[in-house]
Amino acid sequence: MKVYSKITDLQEQISALKSGGKTIGFIPTMGALHQGHISLVQSAMDHCDVTVVSIFVNPTQFNNPDDLLKYPRTLEADVRLLETINCDIVFAPSVEEMYPENSLGYQVDLGKLGTLMEGKFRPGHFDGVVNVVGRLFDIVKPHKAFFGLKDFQQVAVIRYMTQFLKLPVEIIACPTQRESSGLAMSSRNMRLSEAQKTDALHIYRSLILAKKLAENHDPKETKKAVVNYFQQGNLQLEYFEIVDPNTLESLSDKWVKGSTACIVAYCDEVRLIDNMELIG
Ligand code: PAF
Repeated sequence: MKVYSKITDLQEQISALKSGGKTIGFIPTMGALHQGHISLVQSAMDHCDVTVVSIFVNPTQFNNPDDLLKYPRTLEADVRLLETINCDIVFAPSVEEMYPENSLGYQVDLGKLGTLMEGKFRPGHFDGVVNVVGRLFDIVKPHKAFFGLKDFQQVAVIRYMTQFLKLPVEIIACPTQRESSGLAMSSRNMRLSEAQKTDALHIYRSLILAKKLAENHDPKETKKAVVNYFQQGNLQLEYFEIVDPNTLESLSDKWVKGSTACIVAYCDEVRLIDNMELIG
């Protein structure tokens, strides 16, 4: 496995591989890798000849400086883990390498997609995501890129951005990986104690409840009952929305195919995100 920190070195290697007819699969990450990331790497290996993983904690997508400071950074362990599963290339640039002075950013008007849910509670977050993913796509020029559905809105934003900028990359969304308890795998789980992990299960239980209620209630009633149930646990709810999977607009009276419940809650100071499709 090759590890690069400089864009030009990485590009030289990727150009050589592409001229040899190899297809490139890419997984952008912020490190602190877990089984969720590994499943993305495995999907990339199934679909493409060469797998590239980037590890870069992107400062421009954190609206909360404390969250950026506390984001887990485990580069050495991440590289060792990727080596054990035969990943081909790791790209781990510095902030200066990714954002040289006077560099132009990628900007996309996301419309409503950028103002709902995460867009509302983390102003500027998706501008940072679009900018860094645009840059990474430009550097790696992958044929396919793999993203986890745990960040449901992020996948929608990246699909939109790719179409808007007409980028020649196929976006592949992969299912959320869960602990056997049901807790969605996340780098942020590293910041949870065992007791907090037990508390955090309330998120999964609420999503399961939403799925059950969806069988004989409308979205508005389902949301009301789930929010009520959620408030009986130890977490602090930021939002719970039941949305149309294409527009991400909240549903009220009618279900649509793919209706999805999206939730964000704080377990003490750790912000956790999850979602579940309610109507298949
Ligand atoms: O999902 C993430 O880890 C990040 O938002 C991403 C896509 C790597 C961009 O920094």
